[in-house]
Amino acid sequence: MARVKDYVDTQDFTKEEILDMINLGLLVKENLKKGYPLNVLYHKTLGMIFEQSSTRTRVSFETAMTQLGGHAQYLAPGQIQLGGHETLGDTAKVLSRLTDILMARVQKHESIENLAKYSSIPVINGMSDYNHPTQELGDIITMFEHMPEGKKIEDCKVVFVGDATQVCASLMMMITKMGGHFVHFGPKGFQLNEHFQKIAEENCKKSGGTFLITEDEDEAIKDADFIYTDVWYGLYEAELSEEERMKIFYPKYQVDMEMIKKASKNVKFMHCLPAKRNEEVTDEVIDSDYSIVFDEAENRLTAMRALLIYFMDKQEETIEICNKNLGK
Ligand code: CP
Repeated sequence: MARVKDYVDTQDFTKEEILDMINLGLLVKENLKKGYPLNVLYHKTLGMIFEQSSTRTRVSFETAMTQLGGHAQYLAPGQIQLGGHETLGDTAKVLSRLTDILMARVQKHESIENLAKYSSIPVINGMSDYNHPTQELGDIITMFEHMPEGKKIEDCKVVFVGDATQVCASLMMMITKMGGHFVHFGPKGFQLNEHFQKIAEENCKKSGGTFLITEDEDEAIKDADFIYTDVWYGLYEAELSEEERMKIFYPKYQVDMEMIKKASKNVKFMHCLPAKRNEEVTDEVIDSDYSIVFDEAENRLTAMRALLIYFMDKQEETIEICNKNLGK
């Protein structure tokens, strides 16, 4: 099989490729929900390297491989030689001989880039300290499923509230690439930096989208179609204490019902999860009808299936099988 490419950066896909992934993901989801088997990855193996813990990323990748007739190997911290006796380059070369595709959740983005550099098979980023591309593919699929009536993604205002985490950066890349209107509502010192602002500007120039960073809640939240947040601490090795970070973000950047009421009346609340309930989001919001966080978690699986099929070069075959099954 010819190596297609890697997905280590949310920027790696064009708008057209993202639309293809959304359509493929939704088609496979419909096919499987209707009970039609789909064994397009029969005898294929995914190697899953994890340097950090994970619920959604690990389980969705493994379930996707099982559902598509393949197998996934969980390579946990301390279980393989990586970082100990063996260099990352050698690990990449060995796993390229033993598996068909690799995903990795790494501490440093440099590690996923090196894994891709030395692998001869496709490599997917399951989150690094720079971005979280598979999360964003699941998120954009979820937005398409919950699109406000009469709107397209290009008409939507998507607001990220809080710290400029990897998810914030990836959401910005996804929305500005798709031509939507992205706002980061966060405190100075914790906003998307110049590097990301440059990416946002370049994406918007091509897509017709817009980009804003603000500390003004009314400006940020007014007419928002989607409000998204992430945890305030615990993501990075060298960061301020939990107490210090709480003081920076609470209460202004907590998504509560008062904030929700300032947005569009059909606003949807999103969170990549895990959530620290009653810190960055209240129970009242996350458990409300505004919240689509569990659809979002389910769509990690939708996204992983699409990515695995695409990178294993089974896209055309899959579309043909699904369309036949579904009478399309
Ligand atoms: N959102 C996300 O990546 O969840 P996990 O850390 O549980 O994989």
